[in-house]
Amino acid sequence: MKEPELLSDPIGFWEQRHVSLGAWRSGGDRGLGAEENYEFYAYRLGRIIELIRRHAGAERGHRILDAGCGRGFFVDALRRCGHRAHGIDASPTAIAAARESHGDFFEVSALDAYRTGELFPIILSIDVLFHVLDDAVWRASLANFSRLATAESMILLTDVVAGVRYASHDYVVHRSRAEYDQVLGELGYRCAELVPYDFGANPNQFAVYRRTF
Ligand SMILES: C[S@@+](CC[C@H](N)C(=O)[O-])C[C@H]1O[C@@H](n2cnc3c(N)ncnc32)[C@H](O)[C@@H]1O
Repeated sequence: MKEPELLSDPIGFWEQRHVSLGAWRSGGDRGLGAEENYEFYAYRLGRIIELIRRHAGAERGHRILDAGCGRGFFVDALRRCGHRAHGIDASPTAIAAARESHGDFFEVSALDAYRTGELFPIILSIDVLFHVLDDAVWRASLANFSRLATAESMILLTDVVAGVRYASHDYVVHRSRAEYDQVLGELGYRCAELVPYDFGANPNQFAVYRRTF
């Protein structure tokens, strides 16, 4: 199958999407209407909570960075669960909406550019990494996650994580399991668990990568 020609400005594409679409259409699954998309967020929140409890423990107050947080649904929900969650996203419109709805826990930043004094034992990146189209930026984003993470930490990302890499649209490049394993392996992480979304026709999975010593 012929691969689509990729967008030259994916960050601009997302900013435009956040400007033009409502809260429950700019993220989530574009094949779903607003109500079912809300259900999709709630369903994934349950899986995220389950994976955090299993891999990082059931105590409150985990420091969590949501990298590519969009309008902040997961950050807000995890804060309501008693965690110290913060979000970054490259879209100024998404971050303005997140701050207005949920408070001062969000910053505009690209995944590969964020710097802060704080280290996070949990980094989430939910339906973001396959929108980073340039391989060098994708690798730099994962390297930055490792820099922002505590020595012992988990990265919970989502992608198809299949045997092969493929571009499904001009704004989507799904990397293979081997690519994730190689780049994250060099940063000290091992894949601990894969959990398919199993929601409608969505092919993505949660992938938990852990660094332990
Ligand atoms: C499909 S949305 C998912 C948003 C959020 N994780 C959610 O589930 O609601 C993808 C998000 O990734 C952000 N994004 C894409 N590339 C990025 C990059 N290189 N750095 C930071 N954010 C990025 C977009 O602005 C957009 O908000």
